[in-house]
Amino acid sequence: MTAPVDPPARLLMGPGPIDADPRVLRALSTPLVGQYDPVMTGYMNDTMELYRGVWATRNEATVLVDGTSRAGIEAALVSLVRPGQRVLVPVFGRFGHLLVEIARRAQAEVHTIEVPWGEVFPASVVEEAVRRVRPHLVAVVQGDTSTTMNQPLEELGAICARHGALLYTDATASLGGNPFEADAWGIDAATAGLQKCLAGPSGSAPITLSERAVAVVRARSRVEEGLRVEGDPDTDDPVRSNYFDLGMILDYWGPRRLNHHTEATSMLYAARECARILLEEGRQAVIDRHALHGRAMLAGVRGLGLEVFGDVAHKMHNVVAVHIPAGVDGDAGRAAMLADYGIEIGTSFGPLHGRVWRIGTMGYNARRDAVLLTLAALEQTLRRGGVRVPAGGGVDAALEAYAA
Ligand SMILES: Cc1ncc(COP(=O)(O)O)c(C=O)c1O
Repeated sequence: MTAPVDPPARLLMGPGPIDADPRVLRALSTPLVGQYDPVMTGYMNDTMELYRGVWATRNEATVLVDGTSRAGIEAALVSLVRPGQRVLVPVFGRFGHLLVEIARRAQAEVHTIEVPWGEVFPASVVEEAVRRVRPHLVAVVQGDTSTTMNQPLEELGAICARHGALLYTDATASLGGNPFEADAWGIDAATAGLQKCLAGPSGSAPITLSERAVAVVRARSRVEEGLRVEGDPDTDDPVRSNYFDLGMILDYWGPRRLNHHTEATSMLYAARECARILLEEGRQAVIDRHALHGRAMLAGVRGLGLEVFGDVAHKMHNVVAVHIPAGVDGDAGRAAMLADYGIEIGTSFGPLHGRVWRIGTMGYNARRDAVLLTLAALEQTLRRGGVRVPAGGGVDAALEAYAA
């Protein structure tokens, strides 16, 4: 007989996923209720209101897309963009390329601007491109995990509004650990996942849509044959995906509760608990906690003599990338961290694969003990890999950062 699932103890200090908060694990293991049980629809309503708090929005259209973060991205792009419409994607890492890929599959006319990995865009550069391309939608990642950079969004909403474009952002890696103000920044659509700063497992994608975005979605609304009654909308130009049709997803979460998918009950419990945990601690307090432990980890890796990748001034709070020292086999180093200490750290993608390690301090693992343990283990791993490291340099530097 195949053995039951019984994973070893791990401390997940990579760029996500991270260890889920035990409260979220408990929520996941609670009994199921039916899809239209008033308890369940009550939980759905709670979840909408909780995530308005997380996104800092009054958007009515604040729900979950069932699936990983990529499902949220796909739902946003396929529902907001019609074939042939222009989409502008500022690309500053692997996940910008993902937006391009998904927008192309939605048959958009995709335009890109790029900066080298490790940098972000000044708002003026985005505005110049918006003026030139005149896009229907600007799609930009907030925190690109591949490079650790956090693209400032504060001015982009106003730029898009001035030029009649919608603004979508992928906040999968950044939401919770870095400032995010959906309403104040004029964001029309944003999506995320649970497995980074929200301290949950992957598998649910929170999404919020402004009234402007909802109007775009609604212009292609359809109620499926078999559910449709007199007066319901239909169109001969529907969203090209049924599962990711945000109009239908909103109808399911809305007062009519029109059947679409069967809400992933256990993941909804998890998502709801993630938001409860975050709001209980306080939105700003959670950001401050990520900033604190991110600073300590940054000081610690520097204390070990490692060189930090990219523009540190624009780094996300919750992840740092370091150049793998010359002569060290990066994958062997990661394997040793896992085998000897049960600690997972990451490398990156494409041009950075094998060149950097990425170390996260996010969600449930944005904690002092997790930071210090990781630095102590990394010191030993480097030393055994033949690197001369200052004895205790990582932990000492982190402790000094905490003391400051
Ligand atoms: C910025 C960003 N966007 C999208 C994704 C894709 O998320 P998922 O694997 O949950 O679909 C990730 C995953 O790491 C990410 O970091």
